[in-house]
Amino acid sequence: MNAKRIFLGLISFILAISLVGCIEKFTCSNICCQIKFGENITFFIATDPHYMSKELFDDGKTFETFLTTGDGKLIDYSNEIFDAFIRDIKRLKPDILIVPGDLTCNGEKESHIEFAKKLKTIQKMGICVFVVPGNHDIENPWARKYVENELIKIDSITSEEFKDIYYPFGYKDAVSIDNNSLSYLATPAEDVWLLMLDSAKYKRNKLRDGPEMGGEISSKTLEWVKECANLARENNAKLIAVMHHSLLNHSNIVNDDFTIENNEEAVRVFQNCGIEIVLTGHIHLQDIKSHKENGKTIYDIATSCLTAYPNQYGILKFEPDKGYDYKTNRIDIKGWVEENKITDENLIHFAEYSRNFFQRRSYDKYYDSLLEISKYSDDEMKAISETMSILNLRYFAGFRNEALHDIFTTEGFKILLESAPNFVRDYALSMFNDEKTDNNRLFIPLSLNDANKK
Ligand SMILES: [Fe+2]
Repeated sequence: MNAKRIFLGLISFILAISLVGCIEKFTCSNICCQIKFGENITFFIATDPHYMSKELFDDGKTFETFLTTGDGKLIDYSNEIFDAFIRDIKRLKPDILIVPGDLTCNGEKESHIEFAKKLKTIQKMGICVFVVPGNHDIENPWARKYVENELIKIDSITSEEFKDIYYPFGYKDAVSIDNNSLSYLATPAEDVWLLMLDSAKYKRNKLRDGPEMGGEISSKTLEWVKECANLARENNAKLIAVMHHSLLNHSNIVNDDFTIENNEEAVRVFQNCGIEIVLTGHIHLQDIKSHKENGKTIYDIATSCLTAYPNQYGILKFEPDKGYDYKTNRIDIKGWVEENKITDENLIHFAEYSRNFFQRRSYDKYYDSLLEISKYSDDEMKAISETMSILNLRYFAGFRNEALHDIFTTEGFKILLESAPNFVRDYALSMFNDEKTDNNRLFIPLSLNDANKK
C-alpha cells in the first residue's frame, strides 16, 4: 500500500513538474477578438516593402550603383509606393493588413521608425496590422546611408528593438509570444487566428558580413506552434500561418535560402495542426504551391514584392460559408499621383517605368550570367538576355505556361534550346514546369477544408 502511495505521489510530482514546464513554455493571455464569429474577413497581404527613409539616400553615384545593381526593387520610390498603397487601403477598407517581413531595405533603424509611423496611419483607420521580420530587418550589417560618393555604415536594430518599434502591430495584443523567436499568436477574429512566425535567422548576423538569407522554424518554435494549434482547436478557430520564407519549394532550380531549412518537419507539424494556408514573401515571386499528404492539402501562397514590378499585394477573403478566395491587386499609383498632383515623370508613367526598370535589371543579370558561362557570342547573349528579361517579367508577376508560350518563337529561346544544359537554360525551362497558368488567383472551397479535417 505504502509503495503504491509513494508511486502515485511520484507520478503526481512528475506531472506537476511537467505542467510547470508547459506553463513556462506556453503562456497565454486573454483572447480578445475584434471580428465576431461568422463574419466575412478581408486580409491584405503586402510583403517585402523594403522601405527606405529618404533621409538615407540622395541622387549621388553610390545610391545609383546600389539601385542599378539590384534586383529591380524601386527602393528610391518605396515611400511613394507605400503611400499609394495606404490610399488603396483607405478606399478598399480591408479588416486586416499582414506584412510578412523585409519591411525595410537593409534593416536601417531610421527606415523602421518611419515605416512604423506609416503602419500607425493604417491602424488609425480601424484596420488590424500584423508584421513579422524578414531576413533584411534585424541586426543587418548592410545598413547604410548613401551620401553622394560615400557609403556610411549606420545602425540597424536588435530583435528587442523590433518588438518595441512594432509593439502595436501584433505584439501588444498577442495571445502568446514564442520564447525562442519573434513569433506570436494573433486573434483578430473569433473564428480565424493568425500564427505570425519569425522565420529569419538574424542571431548570427553580427558575426557575418551580410544578413543570413535563409530561414528556419526551430524545433522549439514548432513545439510552441503545436500549443497554439491546441488553443485554436479548443476555441473552434481556424489557423492561418504567416512567415517571411517559403514553406514549400517554389522552383525546381533555386530553393536554398528561399525555403526554410527544416521544411519537411514544419509541413508535417503544420498539417497536423490543421493549418491549410501559409502566407509568405521573400522570393519576390508571385507563386502558389500546394502539398497533399494523408488527404490534407496545405497551400504556400507567396505574394510578390510590393516595391517591384508589378507592384501588387494579395487580397484574401474569408467567407465562413464558402471558403478562402485569394487574388492580387496592383497598387493604384496612377490614382494616387493624380490625387496628389505629383509632377515626377517616373511616377506619372509609373506602370511603364517600373516594368522597364525590372526588365532592365533582369536583362543585365542574365547578360552577366551568360558572360560567366562564356559559350555565346555577344549577339547571342543579347538575344538570350532579351528573351529572359521578358520571361522574368511575366514569371515574377505570376504567369506560367500558356501565358509564356509566345516566347518559343524568339531568337533567344531558340538559342537556349539548342544549347548544352547551363543555369540560364535550366532556369528558363523550369518556368514552364508549372501546371498553373495564373498564380494570381486561388479559391479554396470550404467543402475541401472540411474534407481535409476528416
Ligand atoms: Fe527576404
